[in-house]
Amino acid sequence: MSMSKYNNIAHIKEQFPVLKQTIHGNRLVYLDNAASTQRPIQVIESMTDYARNSHSNVHRGIHFLSEKATYLYEKSRERVAEFIGAKSDEIVFTRNATEAINLVARTWAEQNLSEGDIVLLSELEHHSNIVPWQLLSERKKIRLRFLPFNDIGKIDVSVLSDIWDESIKLVSVSLMSNVFGTIQPVEEIISYAHARGAIVMLDAAQAAAHMPLSVKALNCDFMAVSAHKIYGPTGIGFLWAKRDILEDMPPFLGGGDMILSVDLYSSSWNDIPHKFEAGTPNIEGAAGFAEAVSFISSLGFDTIIKHERVLTDYAIERLEDIEGLTVYGSKDSSHRGVISFYVDNIHPHDVAQILDSRGVAVRAGHHCAQPIMKRLSVPATVRASFAIYNTVEDIDVLVSAIKYAKEFF
Ligand SMILES: Cc1ncc(COP(=O)(O)O)c(C=O)c1O
Repeated sequence: MSMSKYNNIAHIKEQFPVLKQTIHGNRLVYLDNAASTQRPIQVIESMTDYARNSHSNVHRGIHFLSEKATYLYEKSRERVAEFIGAKSDEIVFTRNATEAINLVARTWAEQNLSEGDIVLLSELEHHSNIVPWQLLSERKKIRLRFLPFNDIGKIDVSVLSDIWDESIKLVSVSLMSNVFGTIQPVEEIISYAHARGAIVMLDAAQAAAHMPLSVKALNCDFMAVSAHKIYGPTGIGFLWAKRDILEDMPPFLGGGDMILSVDLYSSSWNDIPHKFEAGTPNIEGAAGFAEAVSFISSLGFDTIIKHERVLTDYAIERLEDIEGLTVYGSKDSSHRGVISFYVDNIHPHDVAQILDSRGVAVRAGHHCAQPIMKRLSVPATVRASFAIYNTVEDIDVLVSAIKYAKEFF
């Protein structure tokens, strides 16, 4: 795949079959990318090609197909590792980012935290980065503490020194907010935490499609990612962790593939990352995941960021022109393609339904971030989120559909 194939957005859009349909008689305008992005044809084809030509179980058979499937699965791990500048044996395939966060809560945290210890989160986390820690807190009597966020939707790092105490052993924060689209000041959080002996997990589920990730540059200890938010399939994601941390962690689920040997009463564990991948994995998903990261890499983040900034700036300008519409969070292009808003006197669900009748797919609800909704004093917001295949025309359609909704109510 060469860049020349992608010299404009129309060419890129061509690669996405799902976008060619009409919804209720209108061209589909897909603006729900923060929930899940669509897949380019090469991702779809890599999965069907696997199903047609390569399917077998991995790591088990010594026959041709099993070796081919194993090669493909492990090659995918390498390509995904490259995407974040990591080593492939530090990549643990999971079902999604949520499972990756739960894996850390169930293994590293179970082993290393004890009663009274604190996990530091922020008030703008996705439920996936709150609930696993609440469950841990019930199991282990650890405590949770939260960094607040400011009016532009960024974690307020100025309170770190007030909030910090030596019981904080783990910090887990998102790199990009799924409600505001803001990139969080994680470098500052990471260096502050490391200097005080705590380790840091980054929830990169939302960030991964919008900015280059380098675990070395970020110097985090754990990172969670989902394939379906970066033009890949559902049902696969990964946890990355530093090798020595992974090696010391106890296994997550027990079963086939994660063991070296099994007696009736005891077993020994396989090497990382296999120690954490019990049972038959999502091999087809891994094939799609690798293609998705290749797709992103072939576009390049310069192109992606530039395009999403144009869309975001244009959208904010046009949306703020609508009377009675409030855009939450930052108004500058530190937004990376996620805009939450509220239209006075119309419930976000009603806005979304009217938009849908015009072929526009947005998300309305609490976006799995109910604490944010409480803080904003709204039941829900409408969220329009962009991807590389969106255009300014899509935003024009969104804006005219909102105006139509306002007339309707
Ligand atoms: C910031 C953030 N974290 C975690 C998740 C959970 O991702 P998944 O449902 O793929 O596990 C999401 C999904 O919306 C998200 O936006």
